[in-house]
Amino acid sequence: MLSSTLLAAATFSAGVTAHFHLLEPTWRGDSFVAPASQWTYPCANVNETTDIANRTLWPSSSGSILLNGSHPHALTTINLALGSDVTNFNISLVNTFNQTGAGVFCFKETGKANLEAGFKAAGYSGSGDARIEGLMATVQIIQAGASGGALYNCADIVFNSKAQLLSDDECKNGTGVSGVEIENVSGNATQAESPSSSGSAAPAGSTGAAGRLSPVVGSGMLAAVLAWGLL
Ligand SMILES: *[C@@H]1O[C@H](CO)[C@@H](O)[C@H](O)[C@H]1NC(C)=O
Ligand SMILES: *[C@@H]1O[C@H](CO)[C@@H](O)[C@H](O)[C@H]1NC(C)=O
Ligand SMILES: *[C@@H]1O[C@H](CO)[C@@H](O)[C@H](O)[C@H]1NC(C)=O
Ligand SMILES: *[C@@H]1O[C@H](CO)[C@@H](O)[C@H](O)[C@H]1NC(C)=O
Ligand SMILES: *[C@@H]1O[C@H](CO)[C@@H](O)[C@H](O)[C@H]1NC(C)=O
Ligand SMILES: *[C@@H]1O[C@H](CO)[C@@H](O)[C@H](O)[C@H]1NC(C)=O
Ligand SMILES: *[C@@H]1O[C@H](CO)[C@@H](O)[C@H](O)[C@H]1NC(C)=O
Ligand SMILES: *[C@@H]1O[C@H](CO)[C@@H](O)[C@H](O)[C@H]1NC(C)=O
Repeated sequence: MLSSTLLAAATFSAGVTAHFHLLEPTWRGDSFVAPASQWTYPCANVNETTDIANRTLWPSSSGSILLNGSHPHALTTINLALGSDVTNFNISLVNTFNQTGAGVFCFKETGKANLEAGFKAAGYSGSGDARIEGLMATVQIIQAGASGGALYNCADIVFNSKAQLLSDDECKNGTGVSGVEIENVSGNATQAESPSSSGSAAPAGSTGAAGRLSPVVGSGMLAAVLAWGLL
């Protein structure tokens, strides 16, 4: 126990890893502890939550995602798969963006329009809660570092009309933590991202996600992008 703690501490301080904690929705399990490994596609080698009561309740208009990163910046993608026993994370909630700064990072209502489009594509027509009440799903967060490898964490959710977003107190970005458009956005975004695609398995469902940040990520993002002079 002590030696594995020391090893983890040594690895951490050497800056070899840029692992991240997924704080909300509740992750499948602690992906820092073997046999889990965040390097393993698609869900860090952690099995799906077996007890439906242990899945985080999510609003049909999408929910909050809170993570705690340990890296100065990481290309970040957020995907979702509808159903249980999923392998096809084909709803891109938030297209790949550059998450900057180590610390807590939060989206309050993550990729609302993209989720709605995903429901439609999967045949859940109409609107509102009833059509998807009780539907299970899994959220997948991917972070890729400069070294090229991709890290994965997943959280199992269930859509529920009583689900709440995190409060403003719970859902904030740490000081110096933000997200910006990846560089070379006007046509060369794929090149900018290419180091990650040469690493571990290319994330299913994120193909073509390198292009643009989803407009649904909010005005804070737009301000950040403008501040960086990237538009
Ligand atoms: C995960 O699922 C596999 C296949 O069903 C099983 O062999 C393995 O024991 C499970 N792992 C854990 C930690 O429950
Ligand atoms: C559900 O969560 C509770 C509380 O964290 C835990 O004690 C229990 O083992 C979990 N059940 C399953 C099947 O994982
Ligand atoms: C985020 O991670 C840092 C560094 O490990 C830690 O000090 C901090 O308490 C974490 N924050 C939360 C909300 O877990
Ligand atoms: C995702 O895959 C499911 C089938 O697995 C399909 O019904 C749905 O249209 C796909 N969604 C998107 C957004 O491609
Ligand atoms: C992400 O942001 C960091 C910090 O500003 C920057 O050094 C890095 O080049 C950016 N990466 C991409 C691919 O845009
Ligand atoms: C943008 O792309 C061009 C052409 O591929 C490259 O020369 C340049 O270094 C890139 N700029 C950044 C900031 O990555
Ligand atoms: C993108 O890359 C192509 C091919 O390298 C180049 O012709 C084009 O000028 C680049 N565009 C920008 C905006 O850098
Ligand atoms: C955190 O930063 C991102 C990127 O700037 C922004 O889209 C998001 O709304 C911020 N989160 C909160 C809770 O303000």
